[in-house]
Amino acid sequence: MKHLINIESLSIDEINQICAKALDFEKGIRKTNHSNASVINMFFENSTRTRLSFEMAENKIKCNKFNFSIDTSSINKGEDIFDTINNLSAIGMNAVILRHQDNNLIEELSKKRYFQEISFINAGSGTNAHPTQALLDYYTIKKHFLDLSTKTITIVGDVAHSRVARSNIALLKKFNMKIRCLAPDYFTGEKIDGVEYYTNLEEAFKDTNIIMVLRIQKERIQEHIDFEDYIKNYQITKENLPYDVFLMHPGPINKNIEIREDVLETQNARTILNQAKNGVYVRMAILDTILISQGL
Ligand code: CP
Repeated sequence: MKHLINIESLSIDEINQICAKALDFEKGIRKTNHSNASVINMFFENSTRTRLSFEMAENKIKCNKFNFSIDTSSINKGEDIFDTINNLSAIGMNAVILRHQDNNLIEELSKKRYFQEISFINAGSGTNAHPTQALLDYYTIKKHFLDLSTKTITIVGDVAHSRVARSNIALLKKFNMKIRCLAPDYFTGEKIDGVEYYTNLEEAFKDTNIIMVLRIQKERIQEHIDFEDYIKNYQITKENLPYDVFLMHPGPINKNIEIREDVLETQNARTILNQAKNGVYVRMAILDTILISQGL
């Protein structure tokens, strides 16, 4: 695994190997030292969880960690991103963690030749992919459910603009999980094969094991959205949340829009902070795997 661009390019074996390695890191069984490797975090979009859990993972695997500041870089003098990364490669960076608003940029960059070998890890690309989020979500789910082929997940909300939904669907389909999406028409987006679509919350939540709520991506929405209608019909409340369901959210949460605030105090919602915690171990496993592939 030289790069991690999307879930589609990972095999089931590779996904399971990343999760097994993450578990070893979590249990403290596996220790590693990548002090000969240099990794740079380049975030063109805002982030708390992804950026800081990558930083934590980089510290824990003992690589040399750099944070690229867009505002003070020569990108502000007009340098393009390919030249920027080619220079980073010449300086000695071995891997780039990239979050960017463009759906396809990271894949295009990963196919180019650089001064020295450099790996790309996708930390979120537009509305297209967020593979490390899907991997940490899968890791979180697998700690609770052994056989996913007998389980149902319902993904709720702004599916249309969600890279988290797209990457999770691509991953969970590989494990034959039953996948439902619950969204009003204005948040459904292009329908994906193998997914059942619902507009009625009660029907979608019947016999579901996991509810994954999505953030409404206000920064990507051009059209007028009737938030009152959304809250009335799709907001997760204590009343409509099934008793023993596993509640997930990638964060950040728009409190009292997609989830009513008091739901976050329930036992069901404990998973959400565990997702953030698990992100560190999964990102350690991804970085370790990619740096080893470069002999570092
Ligand atoms: N889940 C997620 O990607 O969160 P951040 O935008 O805070 O990184």
